Amino acid sequence: MGTPVYAFAPGVVKLFGEHAVVYGRPALAAAVSLGIHVEASRHPGDHVEIVPSGTHAEIGRVLLREGSMAAEPDAPSLRAAFRYVAHAVEVASREFGVRGGVRLAIRSDLPQGVGLATSAAVTAATLLALLGVAGHEPSREELARLTYRVEREVQGIASPMDSTVTCMGGTILIEPSGWTRARVGDMRLVLAIVPRTATTGDLVRRVRGLLEAHGDAVERVLDAIGAIVREAVRRVEEGDLEGVGRLMYMNHWLLSALGVGDGRADALVRSLGEAAYGAKISGAGGGGTVVILPRDVGAVMAIARALGFNAVEVDVDLQGARLM
Ligand code: PMV
Repeated sequence: MGTPVYAFAPGVVKLFGEHAVVYGRPALAAAVSLGIHVEASRHPGDHVEIVPSGTHAEIGRVLLREGSMAAEPDAPSLRAAFRYVAHAVEVASREFGVRGGVRLAIRSDLPQGVGLATSAAVTAATLLALLGVAGHEPSREELARLTYRVEREVQGIASPMDSTVTCMGGTILIEPSGWTRARVGDMRLVLAIVPRTATTGDLVRRVRGLLEAHGDAVERVLDAIGAIVREAVRRVEEGDLEGVGRLMYMNHWLLSALGVGDGRADALVRSLGEAAYGAKISGAGGGGTVVILPRDVGAVMAIARALGFNAVEVDVDLQGARLM
């Protein structure tokens, strides 16, 4: 049966510039210490078996054989949960001739659907583990290219932000011309999570509608976000947490100006006071994740929880997707 191969890919938090990045402005995002774990092992038969492990172990399994997908139980939610994995399997088969007879056990320590790049992370970890059992270890660049391709083919539209950051790790500046690493020391963050009221696609369309209705005004908001991102990179590299925090608050309220704010996130941002340097909605908005740069972690966690948020403390993951 061969030895199992374990891969990990980190989640991604958007520190600055989401939405504006869709319109050619820069964005800054970081890989975090929570992510997706995939264990791949050889398995009898000619199919790929996908099973959730950890706390979701009982929900069922998905079988892939020659391009067709069967879910047991046959629940649409199970098929939807694994559509990125299924497409990653197809790409690995098309590009590298990886064939069935493989079992993929997948575990997540990321909350799903709240803008932490679970889809990019599960894609990267699946590709890495699957290619690993076939004896191929892609370069980071190759993995990022494949991950982006799977995301784009499943979603129709995606920026390369999540796929680049989950594969490369660290804190990364995304620009239309490509990506560069920001030189950041230790940075602890608190992520506060609330259920989303809209999907990424809905929120991206909402901003596009506003841009179509008020082109000049919205372009200026996007430019202001771009200026915040460029200054934030400098402040982050200088370790000026006070400055970074102020810029986070500015970016937060500009996301509200773009119509993707959320009352619950605003209440948290207003309540942090001296406990934090700064905070902002992270990702597409409409709830989801609020990223907080804490001055006092314990106080931030207590405030977030008192307001009904699930809160976790994370570090920046410096290595990106990897075999373990
Ligand atoms: O919330 P998420 O993780 O889906 O982030 C979306 C980020 C956007 O900038 C709004 C869209 C994108 O593709 O960059």
